[in-house]
Amino acid sequence: MTILVTGGAGFIGSHTCVELLNSNHEIIVLDNYSNSNIESLNRVKRLTGKDFKVYEVDLLDKEKVEEVFKENSIEAVIHFAGLKAVGESVEKPIYYYQNNIMGTLILTELMQKYCVHNLVFSSSATVYGDPKEVPISEDSPLYATNPYGRTKLMIEEILRDLYVSNNNWSIASLRYFNPIGAHESGLIGEDPKGIPNNLMPYITHVATGKLTELNVFGNDYSTPDGTGVRDYIHVVDLAKGHIKSLGKVLSTKGIEAYNLGTGQGYSVLELVDAFEKASGQKIPYKIAPRRSGDIAECYADPAKAERELGWTTVKSLEEMCIDSWRWQKKNPDGYLTKAAYMSGH
Ligand code: NAD
Ligand code: UFG
Repeated sequence: MTILVTGGAGFIGSHTCVELLNSNHEIIVLDNYSNSNIESLNRVKRLTGKDFKVYEVDLLDKEKVEEVFKENSIEAVIHFAGLKAVGESVEKPIYYYQNNIMGTLILTELMQKYCVHNLVFSSSATVYGDPKEVPISEDSPLYATNPYGRTKLMIEEILRDLYVSNNNWSIASLRYFNPIGAHESGLIGEDPKGIPNNLMPYITHVATGKLTELNVFGNDYSTPDGTGVRDYIHVVDLAKGHIKSLGKVLSTKGIEAYNLGTGQGYSVLELVDAFEKASGQKIPYKIAPRRSGDIAECYADPAKAERELGWTTVKSLEEMCIDSWRWQKKNPDGYLTKAAYMSGH
């Protein structure tokens, strides 16, 4: 029996593929490479010494997705495929609703048709909007502040309706906090297209000299140093959370949401400081106006995931910085840096 990984060529998907293969799961990957590169999957194969089928398919192409279900005996789906840039979602809401919601509807319709009822879904801490209290537990109020967040919230609700309609479903919605870091091999990591939106890839681009300085978006929040506080989680810890969630989904029925975070918040300036120490690189920065839509503080209460999945994070902020930097240094042009990878530098 096989695990179908949608969006498996992406940042979190590729790291999860490694963990799935290392725990002896058979996988197949479906991706349209709209925000990724097939090279990530080549590297997953080299890293694990294991082969798997890869389908270059758009989730919106129902006929092609159906072929994947016909050709394989699928036991469960881990559904990463989605668009994730908050700013872009404000500019192109239809594109986001179509891709994320239609993609999930097509996927779940086919899962239903082929009697595949086990699903792990990539949700996001963004479903908590601007939280009234931190740490945030799963039963905190849910609301979205932008179209991207609304796609996650709507999909969570669609999945709840699906379970109500048919109690054979077993679904975990995983609410990720802020994934950073990379595999310790330096072979796979985060490879954003264009200028990064997120803090860690922006910092690593400053460190390589591709960008000149970091804009710190606001230092007048009600946080200890005035800059935004987030729950940064190592992507390998996050990937391992998927293995635990898959185990739970395969062994029970029902629908649950889990926070995947460390429970510890760090400010922008604390992350800059930790990165400078870990990399030995100076990160010049200036204080810039607040970014529209940003919140002051967001960190998880991860107790439910520990209790029900037996999962906790183990990697420190220092390891996150070291691994992000190793990946960026070895791959200054991301997956296009084939020469550096081949020569092992
Ligand atoms: P990513 O962009 O690196 O990976 C997503 C993958 O999905 C990409 O490979 C992309 O090509 C693929 N994809 C998108 N639309 C597709 C479609 N219609 N058909 C087939 N493939 C498609 O993003 P990521 O950081 O790995 O995130 C994975 C999931 O986790 C996303 O759903 C994202 O919204 C969610 N998430 C990410 C973060 C984060 O900060 N990285 C935080 C919370 C939630
Ligand atoms: N920041 C800067 N400068 C930058 C980029 C970010 O100061 O150039 C600050 C932000 O203001 C924020 C913090 O760094 O305080 C983290 O910002 P990110 O963009 O890295 O992450 P966000 O918390 O804004 O959002 C991320 C994902 C969302 C997801 C959310 C919760 O981008 O998709 O985490 O999981 F919903």
